[in-house]
Amino acid sequence: ATKYAAFAPVELADRQWPGKTITRAPIWMSTDLRDGNQALFEPMSVDTKIAFFEMLTRVGLKQIEVAFPAASQTDFDFVRRLIEEDRIPQDVTIEVLTQARDHLIERSFESLKGARRAIVHVYNATAPVFRRTVFGVDRAGCIEIAVNAAKKIRDLAAQRPETEWVFQYSPEVFSSTELDFALEISEAVADVWQPTPERPMILNLPATVEGATPNVYADQIEWMCRHLSRRNATIISVHPHNDRGTAVAAAELAVMAGADRIEGCLFGNGERTGNVDLVTLALNLYTQGIDPGLDFSNINEIARVVEESTRLPIHPRHPYVGDLVFTAFSGSHQDAIKKGFAVQKDDALWEVPYMPIDPRDLGRSYDSVIRVNSQSGKGGIAWLLETAYGLALPRRMLVEFSGVVQQHMDDTGAEMTPEEIWKLFGATYLEA
Ligand code: KIV
Ligand code: ZN
Repeated sequence: ATKYAAFAPVELADRQWPGKTITRAPIWMSTDLRDGNQALFEPMSVDTKIAFFEMLTRVGLKQIEVAFPAASQTDFDFVRRLIEEDRIPQDVTIEVLTQARDHLIERSFESLKGARRAIVHVYNATAPVFRRTVFGVDRAGCIEIAVNAAKKIRDLAAQRPETEWVFQYSPEVFSSTELDFALEISEAVADVWQPTPERPMILNLPATVEGATPNVYADQIEWMCRHLSRRNATIISVHPHNDRGTAVAAAELAVMAGADRIEGCLFGNGERTGNVDLVTLALNLYTQGIDPGLDFSNINEIARVVEESTRLPIHPRHPYVGDLVFTAFSGSHQDAIKKGFAVQKDDALWEVPYMPIDPRDLGRSYDSVIRVNSQSGKGGIAWLLETAYGLALPRRMLVEFSGVVQQHMDDTGAEMTPEEIWKLFGATYLEA
């Protein structure tokens, strides 16, 4: 677990950091199959959702929001199949979302018939603009919607004791809601549900539309943590969207501010600019020596399932997973990387320059780490010949051959693959 501390600032690696850091993983909740799914041109079919769900369980997600069953027949059918075909691992809890309306809550409970354990997630929008423009209610009216829904959920759950129920409330658009009102409505819901430390409720505080710098969101979360009267019976969850491009930072600061749980999607799928990216969050922890409790040792396979299911490509520079993130183009980078690999020992502190993580930990290989183009130097060429063909050139020959390669690339204006370099080597020295 200390393997990666070398790339953190020195004081952090020595655990001497004066500021706040994250010291353990939060509870992760994947909403790929709900928030992620609702943002697709073509929502996933039941079979696609099943394959995605199974992949999420392999990654190690223990809480998965699987559907909005009252909003779509496909979602309803998917929940039924998960339950009827006994596809939910013992240690995984499924979650469904519902609006705060009686008939939708009833339908959601219907979808969950026979579930061992389930999180029922109810929300209503609390921000002033929504109260005014969308629902035409004042503060009291908004609280009434939430409280009525909480009562309905409490009562339906009481009729079905065979399922272990967990209740979750989201004051939607929390980050644009007056804090005193967000607290008041959350307390009112908690008054109905009466959570205890043994049976806590989840209070999810979404940045439905990210509208401020991440520290502001973190301050809002901290304020809620400090003022909630049943803090020890409440799991504080965050749900950052990425409208300003700072969802990852917002989630990390929110955890430092007291949040227990993060909702997001793999590779940041989700409404508009997406939900916070769970993969980046988890691997950011990993690179600081903290076990995220999620397994991305086969990240290419995970990316394949996500891309095929969402029909959205992952950007080649996406942290940790993008095609180009273990590729060095410049000669000085290639040289430094080569030197780093030469001395790097297994299980020692990871310190290959320019590489925040060992690609092997993600199931990626060094093979394509270094590519040779007109910006590359001798180091890159030496590395490729050595790793791909076991050929270690004497220094003077390397200098000479680098000139040949450089000339070739200047002439063609194109990058060279290892095979092309190997062929050029043969043509220069073996066939000549
Ligand atoms: O972004 C949001 O506020 C949501 C809620 C339903 C939690 O997705
Ligand atoms: Zn959302």
